[in-house]
Formats: sequence, C-alpha cells, structure tokens
Amino acid sequence: MHDEADPSAAISEDPLFATCPDRRGTGAEKWDQWADARTADGREILPVWVADMDLRSPPEVLEALHARVDHGVFGYTADPPGFAPALADHMARVHGCAIDPACVVGTPGVVTGLGLAARLLTEPDDEILTFTPIYPPFLSLPKAAGRRSLRVPLARREQTWEVDFDALEQAVTPKTKMLWLCHPQNPTGMVHSREELGRIADFAARHGIRVVSDEIWADLILDGSQHMPFASLDHPAAKDAITLVAPSKTWNIAGLDCAAAILPDPAMKARWRPSGGGLVPMVNPLGYAAAEAAWRYGDPWRQKLLALLRHHMQLVGETVEEIPGLTWLPPRATYLAWIDCRGTGVENPQAACEAAGLGTSDGQGFAGAGFVRINTACPTTMLVEALRRLHDAFA
Ligand SMILES: Cc1ncc(COP(=O)(O)O)c(C=O)c1O
Repeated sequence: MHDEADPSAAISEDPLFATCPDRRGTGAEKWDQWADARTADGREILPVWVADMDLRSPPEVLEALHARVDHGVFGYTADPPGFAPALADHMARVHGCAIDPACVVGTPGVVTGLGLAARLLTEPDDEILTFTPIYPPFLSLPKAAGRRSLRVPLARREQTWEVDFDALEQAVTPKTKMLWLCHPQNPTGMVHSREELGRIADFAARHGIRVVSDEIWADLILDGSQHMPFASLDHPAAKDAITLVAPSKTWNIAGLDCAAAILPDPAMKARWRPSGGGLVPMVNPLGYAAAEAAWRYGDPWRQKLLALLRHHMQLVGETVEEIPGLTWLPPRATYLAWIDCRGTGVENPQAACEAAGLGTSDGQGFAGAGFVRINTACPTTMLVEALRRLHDAFA
C-alpha cells in the first residue's frame, strides 16, 4: 500500500518513536474508551481519538521529572522562577516573538484558561464567538460558564479553510464580547494567515470583542512556516488579547496539567485563578518541571517529531486518495487528520470506523458531522494498522 523506499520513512525506525509502552491498565483515557468493546470478528478497537501521543516524552523531560522526584518534596507550588523565562525564551527562539515574563501565569490546562477568561472578562449571557468545526470544549464551555456560544462556520476553499467574514459580520450581536480563536486550529489543522489575523483583529476592535487565542498547537507546524501569535500583531485588539499555550501537545505531557496564560497586563494575574471561584487548583510541581525542561531542551526532539508527523500525513494522504469518497485538506499544523467522509455515502462514518476496529473522533462533536478525526501521533506501525482499518471501514 505504501512506498517502503520513501526516505522520509526512516524516522519511523528512530527508537524515540518506533514503539510505545502498553498504556492499557494505566487509566489512559484514549485506551479506556473502547477497552471492553470488540468488533464483530472479535478484535479490539484501535484508538486514534484523544489528542495525546502514543509515544514516550523526550528523555530531556523524563530526566527533569526524575530530578524533581528526587528532590522529594511536593508541597503547594506557585510558578517557579524559571517557568516564565523558559516560556519567554522558547517563544523568542521558536516563534520570533517577544513576551513579557511578568505577564505569564501558570494554569492547570488550556481549557481551564478558556473558562477563566470567560468568567473574568465577560458577563453572564454574553456571547463567546468561535469558528466551527472546533475542538468540542469551545462549544460546551460557554454554557458551563453561564455564557452563550456563538458559532460561525469556517469556509472550506480549494486549498484551505478560511474565516467567512461576511458570515461573521452577520452573526455578531451587541452581546458578543469574546472570541475564542484556535490557532493553529483543531480539528482542521489550518493556520490563520497574517492577513486573516489582521482582519480578525479589525473585526474584534470594531465590535469591542476581546480575543483569547488558544495556541496550544503552535509548536507543531508541519509545513515549516512561522507561527504568528495573534497577540504579536501590531494592533489594539492584539494588545488586549490573552494567549494560551502549553507544552502538553508537543511533548506529550497533557496528564501533567501545566499550561500558561500570557495576559495583556501583569495586574490581571491577581484576578486570574480566583475568577474560577475556588474550583481551579494550582499547577503541580511535576507539571512545572516537565514544562520548563520541554521549553528549554525539547527542541531537537520536537524537530524529529515533526519529521515523523510529516511522514504520517503523507501516509494518510495516500490512504485518503485510495478510498473512494474520502477527501481531506492536508493539515498545515497539528498531528490530526480531519477527514471528510460525506462522499462515501456512509451515513454514520464514526460507526463504520468503530465497526472496522478504528476508534476515531466523531466529527459531530466538533460541529462537523460527516467527518472523522484521526490522531497520527503514534508509532508508524500503529498508524499503518489504523489506515488499514480505515480502508475496511469504507470498503
Ligand atoms: C485546541 C485545544 N485546546 C486545548 C486542548 C486541551 O488543553 P488542556 O489539556 O491544556 O486543557 C486541546 C486538546 O486537544 C486542544 O486541541
């Protein structure tokens, strides 16, 4: 099915990525989802849904964790002195972007950061705008915070997904107070262009809308282009924006619950976590240790990971081409493949995948009915098996 001579395939053999320890029985959300399910012919479901990786974290991160464990004391921990500078150095080195470490605040998750921003900077019943399809918490969190969710579909063009600015202007109301940007975007893997970011900033400034930009995927841009943080624009809307970042996707440490908010003003820090009404814990010391090591020392591993993911996207592309009715736009970022199954005539693509032993994410949860999302961050052997099952699903 695939060209074994492909030189980009060599990365699959790298011991860093060739295998993954068995995650079953560790409480891994991804593997527990279908732990008791079997296909009609008795096979387990191969999970390719939740966005974590079936790969070990980099040795540099594991070493930092070992060292922090050896310290032996794990009391309540605020941002350690090296945390914000490590992020600032990473942002400067990798994204060419200067941030003020005084504006950084550790947060136990990007999703938590979205909820905190809503509670801190909008009022009950205000609308929070987002572009669909989108990572499901963007759809559910406004309601959980007593706000309303306003959704504007992205337009699918020949080569990319784009913001539909006409639809945006028609949708906005005086109650629209916040825009949750996902940049790069989950699930489509699209990256907003500089021009598009500028137009979003104009729109936000014109309507008095605060932008919160979830840039958790910024370190996984596959096409070699430079990430442009929304807050780095020279624009009044960018000066007011909140940026949410984390090392969790890139270095596979989501379970360590460490993210960061980059606030527009250090004075906002004192009100940040308290806006969670006592429900938001501090970040934990192991999360901090892993985050700092990832930002400081994780880049060589990240570069190799990008090579693996580019190879994996090639494999996905070949498979999609082979299956009549499937289409996709190759993602410019993320390790996620967002596959349009509407041309297959299969009414419920998620059910078809599961029946073939493939545990995809159902597009429906992303406001993208008829699509499935495949997580490609795993050893190549596992991805090849997943793609074989994708064939079976639509045979
Ligand atoms: C766009 C986006 N934001 C946030 C998250 C989750 O972040 P956290 O685990 O830090 O809450 C994900 C996870 O897939 C994501 O894709």
